[in-house]
Amino acid sequence: MSDNEVLRVTDLNVFYKNRKRKLFSNNKKIQALFDVNVAVEEGEVLAIAGESGSGKSTLARAIVGINRDYTGEIWQKYADPQMVFQDPYSSLNPSKKVRWLLEEPLRVDRTRKWSPLEMDKRVYEILEEVELPVALLDRYPSQLSGGQRQRVCIGMALMKSPKLLIADEPVSALDVTIQAQILELLENLHKKHGISIIFISHDLRVVYKISDHVLIMKDGRVVEYGETRQLYRSPQAHYTKSLLKAAGIV
Ligand SMILES: Nc1ncnc2c1ncn2[C@@H]1O[C@H](COP(=O)(O)OP(=O)(O)O)[C@@H](O)[C@H]1O
Ligand SMILES: [Mg+2]
Repeated sequence: MSDNEVLRVTDLNVFYKNRKRKLFSNNKKIQALFDVNVAVEEGEVLAIAGESGSGKSTLARAIVGINRDYTGEIWQKYADPQMVFQDPYSSLNPSKKVRWLLEEPLRVDRTRKWSPLEMDKRVYEILEEVELPVALLDRYPSQLSGGQRQRVCIGMALMKSPKLLIADEPVSALDVTIQAQILELLENLHKKHGISIIFISHDLRVVYKISDHVLIMKDGRVVEYGETRQLYRSPQAHYTKSLLKAAGIV
């Protein structure tokens, strides 16, 4: 194990309750992840790729503590991982203004108490980080564009200065031009603060541009893991090859 690790996941198996309530179904659990192992180093961008239903979000939600039914180990070093979700339309409380939304992670911070002055200062710092104008603080989510909403979501995730940001398909719901701007913002945050990022995407072109390492998942299992350029140059698993081919890369 390297000293620089901010996160290490060992032999992770994640379970869900069986949603299908058929007459004769036993209420057994469904296993969504099988023996997943992965580590993230300080300042690294790890991409998780794989088709829909492969378990990418399940892994992300286990890491941030939303999925609690698991075996194995999730170890983190003061990383306080924070998540940015795919859909900025549904992940913001519509009845609250941007200032309130940005302050919320500080209000519920269990590690320390923030004074109103400190909160205010942090809100303006983060507003600058995510490149949003001060005027937006008094607006509701419905009054923002999709790109602005996603910037608010990223801002909320950054409020407590996490070492690890998990972005789960953060641009999939946005227009192409806006996608590029949000990706650039994430890259800038990464370069400027050395924040580690787990970037979840099914877009292998974006993955190539943004990541140092990549984890390929299929049916809840890790199919392949490696340094991004190396893996794209010489994919080992048949499945990885087919994904690259489908994306028009090889
Ligand atoms: N809350 C849930 N309850 C039961 N099954 C779920 C739940 N969430 C996801 N799953 C199942 O777990 C598997 C992995 O899903 P998910 O992690 O969302 O995949 P991905 O993010 O790669 O599209 C899928 O088969 C999905 O149907
Ligand atoms: Mg998902």
